[in-house]
Amino acid sequence: MTIREALATGRKKLVDSPSPALDTRLILEYVMAVSHGYLITHDEEIMNPEQAYRYLSLLERASNGEPIPYLVGKTQFHGLDIKVSLSVLIPRPETEQLVDLALEWVAHGYSKLGWPHIVDVGTGSGCIALALASELPNARIEATDISNNALELAEENSRILGFDDRIEFHHGQYLQPIVDAPDLIVANLPYIADHEWTSLGVGVKWYEPDVALRGGSDGLDGIRQLLAQAGKRLARGGAMLLEIGWQQGQAASLLAQSTFPSARVDVIQDYAGHDRVVRICTGEADSDNE
Ligand SMILES: C[S@@+](CC[C@H](N)C(=O)[O-])C[C@H]1O[C@@H](n2cnc3c(N)ncnc32)[C@H](O)[C@@H]1O
Repeated sequence: MTIREALATGRKKLVDSPSPALDTRLILEYVMAVSHGYLITHDEEIMNPEQAYRYLSLLERASNGEPIPYLVGKTQFHGLDIKVSLSVLIPRPETEQLVDLALEWVAHGYSKLGWPHIVDVGTGSGCIALALASELPNARIEATDISNNALELAEENSRILGFDDRIEFHHGQYLQPIVDAPDLIVANLPYIADHEWTSLGVGVKWYEPDVALRGGSDGLDGIRQLLAQAGKRLARGGAMLLEIGWQQGQAASLLAQSTFPSARVDVIQDYAGHDRVVRICTGEADSDNE
């Protein structure tokens, strides 16, 4: 089978995927350990039998709903190559907005001298902390997770990207392992409500870890518990950015406002116009929370 034939076979096999051509290409690049450019310039090359066998079996798994990043062991997030495994959520493009909002807050909302202390709660693959480390070379960045397997992978990603001396990873519940008050807390915690579970796609509910997805009866258990800790720990003038489900804007902002009564709380929509992030800015005026 030539590379050209393999790509055509893949596109046909994955016709029900939203992106058959891209998925096919990623699998073939992975199996042959070559770049996109190589596939284009060598499309008459014949795959060896082992490559062809592996390729066809991965195509089969992909056509049964197994997510491509798990099959090829990596994905892209905020311009970085992030290694993934079945122990972590696959970083989503919409979470890049959380990173952009964090960068915006550091540029315009952070009013102290020096660099902020940022904590990424529920770091998973480490994608948010890693993206922030790459953009903010002098910020102090810590990250927590309840899953030891996720932390192991996040630390590996940090080493691969050369940030191992930039991010401190801790095991524990939310902010519990964090000693110094954070200026900025960012979190993409599990937020799928129990009643939403059955309507999730196969790729999510069969493959991604429950601990990264399920947020209790209304999906807000994690956010509620994090806010309870953050109310006493966020530094004066600090901020929080919390990723939420598209139906959680009102409930999550009410929770945030009751924890930080004098803070400015707003709900930010994603590019599809859905509620996506709750932003809490305590500003200099809020002195109740230290
Ligand atoms: C939705 S995933 C997000 C992962 C990553 N931050 C991302 O955006 O791709 C949520 C993460 O929170 C972690 N988590 C769940 N409960 C936690 C808790 N009580 N304390 C700390 N982390 C928790 C999970 O293990 C998982 O890695």
